[in-house]
Order: sequence, then structure tokens, then C-alpha cells
Amino acid sequence: MKTFNQIKYLILLFILPALYAHGQRNNFTPGEIWPDDKGVHINAHGGGIMYQKGKYYWFGEHKIAGGAGNRAMVGVHCYSSKDLYNWKDEGIALKVSEDTTSDIAKGCILERPKVVYNKKTKKYVMWFHLELRGQGYKAARAGVATSDRINGPYTFIKSYRPNAGFMPISPAGTPDAEKVDCANIKNRSEGFFCRDLPGGQMARDMTVFVDDDGKAYHVFSAEENATLDMAELTDDYTAHTGKFARVYPGRSTEAPAVFKRKGTYYMIGSGTTGWDPNPGRWFSAPSIWGPWTYHGNPCKGLKAEITFGGQSTHVLPVQGKKDAFIFMADKWTPKDAIDGRYLWLPIKFNGDEMEIDWLEKWDLTVFDK
Ligand code: DGJ
Repeated sequence: MKTFNQIKYLILLFILPALYAHGQRNNFTPGEIWPDDKGVHINAHGGGIMYQKGKYYWFGEHKIAGGAGNRAMVGVHCYSSKDLYNWKDEGIALKVSEDTTSDIAKGCILERPKVVYNKKTKKYVMWFHLELRGQGYKAARAGVATSDRINGPYTFIKSYRPNAGFMPISPAGTPDAEKVDCANIKNRSEGFFCRDLPGGQMARDMTVFVDDDGKAYHVFSAEENATLDMAELTDDYTAHTGKFARVYPGRSTEAPAVFKRKGTYYMIGSGTTGWDPNPGRWFSAPSIWGPWTYHGNPCKGLKAEITFGGQSTHVLPVQGKKDAFIFMADKWTPKDAIDGRYLWLPIKFNGDEMEIDWLEKWDLTVFDK
């Protein structure tokens, strides 16, 4: 005869996770624990999602418990879903290396991985922000890995600072004050730009955006995080062409997420306050090269001034729904990195203006209204 305590223990250990594993979710609850198909909180922070053949694939930083989890001890985790509510664990798509001399040695910092598909090479290409092991945030490199299969394994190719020796383009409409002349540096951010010109620009928080014409762009925080660079990738998506524009120079934007709607380019980002939340910021542009117009904080209501406690990471176009975009953000918990939460909220449009409101619980039918 089992004692009451033994029975309680069995329920907690086996029965609850089993129930979780089989219970289908049909809504989003931003900021709550989000169990995967095994009942384990999804571990894909700073992530991005790509859609292919009826399935969404979510790639993000696999974090471990405690402060050590802010460094990459495992790699990039992949999950798949048909409905966006229920996610299957697809395992580690890119593993950090046990070789301490590797750029992606275990203990490095590997953040904000984003995967895109290259139709010409038929390869999946993953870009991420890489900091070399033991160097804090000094290296500021972009890293790239590729795979023949969407869920990996991905093979690490290289890491570097982009666009060494290249000057930015100045799209029509860019104020003259923002044109860089390294013989006549006008401000701090230009100073960082010119300092880094020979070795390549710093590349920290980032995303990758593929346009309708198949061209891909790497968007990253450069110049000690002072300026965003919008940089064109080569046809195979694994290198930079040298063509890039500086966006919102000197105003310190992190966490970029880019999307396109009705021919207009949109970007949501954040300020730079480490792991602490700050007001989001959104931009729009008639061309990927700009000029990018700053519109302020897209979030409205209680805690809008701290993006509801989160920081942008991706904007997801929902398949099969018209004008449906999900704002994805991370609620970081740097003292126990694995406990980071996900804030997904629908984006509302009023003409060309966007707004993000807090919702405790919601589902995809919001886009049908
Ligand atoms: C804010 C960035 O958005 C994160 O990805 C991470 O790099 C933290 N800063 C580190 O403080």
C-alpha cells in the first residue's frame, strides 16, 4: 500500500508532465511558462521564426539555469509548430564547440540567432551575434552557420566584423548631417565608425530580413551600439556585399526586428539598457535603404514605457491571415537565464501607424476582426 506522500510524488513526477505533454494549447499567455511537447518551458530566447511547408520553426538561444546561462553552454535550440501555440522540441540545431579554440567554444556568447532559406544554394543559413569566450562583449562579431536541413545540424562557417573598408551609402532623403567623412568626424558614433572602418564594423544585436525579391539583409547594432547598420548579404546569404546604410545614427538602437507590409518596410527595436527593459521604438521606410523615419514607442497602456517588461526579437507574419503580424519579445531574467519568458502580442495597424497593446491571453482570431 503506497503512502499519501508517495502517491503525491508520483503525480508530480509523472502524471502532471504527461498531462501537459498531451494537453493542446489554443491561446497565447504572454509572460507565462510556455511548455513544449514534453512539458518543458520552451528554451529559445532572443529567437526568430521561419515558416516552411506548413510548419513554423522557432530558433533561439538555449539558456541554462543561473547567471552562467547568459553564456552559450549548449547552442541554438529549434522547435517546430503547425499552429504557433503548440511547439515540438526539435533539439539543438547548432551546438557550441568543445574545442576551446573554436570561435563558438562552449562559454562564448551566442545571441539572437535567425535562420533564413536560400533558394539558390538550397541551404538554411543561420546568422547570430557572437562574442568570443572570455572576452565579454568586446569581439562584437557576426557569426554564420549553414545546414541542408531546416532543423539542423548546422555547421559553423565563420565569424567576423562586417563591411571592413566600406563606406555607407546615403540614400536619397538622408540628412547631410548624417553623411560620414572620416577626415572630418562630427560626433562620437562617427568616431566609432571610422575607428572600425579598417577591421569591420561591430555587430551585436541583430536580425536578418529577406525581401520579396530574394535579397537578404543583416541588420545589426554597430558603433558600440550607437547605430544600426542595414547591410546587404551576398546571393548565397553567407557574407556581406559591402553595401550598407547607417540607420538612426547615434541614437543607440538594439533588438531590431524587420518586416514588410503593403510595400512599406517596418522595424521595431529597443533602447540600450542591458537586460533591463526600456521603451520600444518603431520606424518605417519606403525602401529597405531608407530613409527610416522614427515614430516613437509602438506600445500603449500600462507598462508601455518598458515594453511590458520585454525587448523585441522578431516580428512574425502569420501564414494564411491577412495583415497579421505578431510582435515577439523576450522578458529576460539574467539571474536565472533559463527562466526567461516570451511576450508575443498582435500588432494593430491604423492606416500605416502601428500599436501594440498588452493582452493577458489571446489567440489568432484577433486577426479575423
Ligand atoms: C541587450 C541585448 O538586446 C541582449 O541581446 C543582450 O546582448 C543584453 N543586452 C546583454 O546585456
